[in-house]
Amino acid sequence: MGSGVPRIAVVGASGKTGSAISGALSGRGADVVPVGRAVWTRLPELFAGCDAVGIVAPNLYGDEPAFVAEVLAAVHGARVTRVSYHSVVAPYAPEMPHHLGKARSEDLVRRASVGWTILQPCAYVQNFVPPLRSGAPGLEVPYDVHRPFGLVDLADVAEATATVLLEDGHTGATYELGGPTLASVTDVAVVASDVLGRRVTASRLDPQSWTTGPGVTLGPRERDWLLAMFRYYDQHGLPAGGRVLGGLLGGRSTSLADTLARELAPTK
Ligand SMILES: NC(=O)c1ccc[n+]([C@@H]2O[C@H](COP(=O)([O-])OP(=O)(O)OC[C@H]3O[C@@H](n4cnc5c(N)ncnc54)[C@H](OP(=O)(O)O)[C@@H]3O)[C@@H](O)[C@H]2O)c1
Repeated sequence: MGSGVPRIAVVGASGKTGSAISGALSGRGADVVPVGRAVWTRLPELFAGCDAVGIVAPNLYGDEPAFVAEVLAAVHGARVTRVSYHSVVAPYAPEMPHHLGKARSEDLVRRASVGWTILQPCAYVQNFVPPLRSGAPGLEVPYDVHRPFGLVDLADVAEATATVLLEDGHTGATYELGGPTLASVTDVAVVASDVLGRRVTASRLDPQSWTTGPGVTLGPRERDWLLAMFRYYDQHGLPAGGRVLGGLLGGRSTSLADTLARELAPTK
């Protein structure tokens, strides 16, 4: 990385994850080049002169390896030397098709002749914020509410991503990013009850009811992929270690309670 202001392109910058990463990079003084559909035909031009590219594919994208391959080709064309790729915990779980798309994409990144770092975040605590803010009496999910997850604060994931994009020493690393403790949806409800000062329940919604209810507006592929994910969560949850993220953040990753207190604060 040169001595001037670092210039970092973020693919998917307008999305939930990409905007958090862009904010973390800007907060550290980087010049962020946002990349999305509107500028897709100009990737090599946008990447030219960038010190690094952060790659975040759209959620549940149909062909993530093709998406990532296109970005990597432009990275090569622009002679960018550093990338981060936003994968997921347990990308190689064969039961979850969208995780497998990330496993294949990881392979492309590892073979791309560029300095790479792969980040494997668990599900974000922030995924629970819309139902908690909606005033609904509880959290209803189509899987076992007692299964363990390495739920992680998206703001922490964004800070860790900024670290690997801006600092040396992370080339060739694959970092699993879980929060400081494992938590179930029941734990989220208990902590949210405390933060909100009202009782929040956690209950399992029958997947069939999810299909005809919350999932009804999705396309068939997205619905099937999510149902496969729910089946996996129902049996195994999605546990993830928290030590790596803690290390990347200088020993401090954000607790479930602190994340929910920040996200559910009345001013937000
Ligand atoms: N949510 C979680 O708990 C979690 C956990 C671990 C990993 N992840 C992963 O994080 C990634 C990002 O998820 P997200 O929910 O933050 O994403 P998102 O909100 O869906 O945003 C993705 C961005 O991609 C861009 N985009 C959409 N279609 C595109 C296309 N055809 N070509 C180019 N760009 C396109 C969009 O930008 P424009 O509108 O500007 O085009 C959008 O802002 C996903 O790969 C997901 O698997 C999520």
